[in-house]
Amino acid sequence: MITGIEVAPSILNADFADLRSEVAKVATADWLHLDIMDGHFVPNLSFGPAVAKALRAHSDLPFEAHLMVANPEVYIEPFKEAGVARVLVHPEGTIHLHRLVQQIKESGLEAGVALNPATPLSAIDLLLPDLDMVLLMTVNPGFGGQSLIRSVLPKIRQLRQKLTTAGLHCRIGVDGGINQTTAAEVIAAGADFLVAGTHIFRNNEDPAQVIAALKQLGTAKLAD
Ligand code: DX5
Ligand code: ZN
Repeated sequence: MITGIEVAPSILNADFADLRSEVAKVATADWLHLDIMDGHFVPNLSFGPAVAKALRAHSDLPFEAHLMVANPEVYIEPFKEAGVARVLVHPEGTIHLHRLVQQIKESGLEAGVALNPATPLSAIDLLLPDLDMVLLMTVNPGFGGQSLIRSVLPKIRQLRQKLTTAGLHCRIGVDGGINQTTAAEVIAAGADFLVAGTHIFRNNEDPAQVIAALKQLGTAKLAD
């Protein structure tokens, strides 16, 4: 059951030369999404715990670290110390996913799993009761500004059905190519957590207005 939409701006496509003010522009969001890329798991390099720590002092939002890295287990503690509240890991990037999720939760952080577009839901069936969030990648990870992969829409519907049937309340996040149009589609499919980067930071509109318009879609959905 959707109890309201949360919006998490991704800073990957924000102005890296002015991150402090970029983050201040999205103070009305619900979370801040930090895309951590190591050039191995994805063909791009972004930033690490030091940037998360620097931004921590300039935002009241909870931070989530989306680890698109090899050996994600070595980054849990550094991001915890940097002030992150949730860590999202990929099953495609680790051998022992159950142990990794346990490690995140034992660190006192929220645990989420992010699935690449080609990864089936069956990869996490046994973990669903342990998760605070399943993030369904709606682009192939590594870059902002890509178009939503529409074949992920049925996956959102299937996951919503699984969670409803099992009476589980973990969030369904979507990440990549989210704008006002695609957000309506993914919410209709059952998503309740929207990661958006380009739509928020590279838009001619005020980021706060863009965020409010995305959240409004959730209110409309609840009215259905
Ligand atoms: C891609 C990242 C996404 C991306 C979203 O690997 O995980 O968070 O930055 O950017 P947009 O919203 O521009 O697709
Ligand atoms: Zn991301």
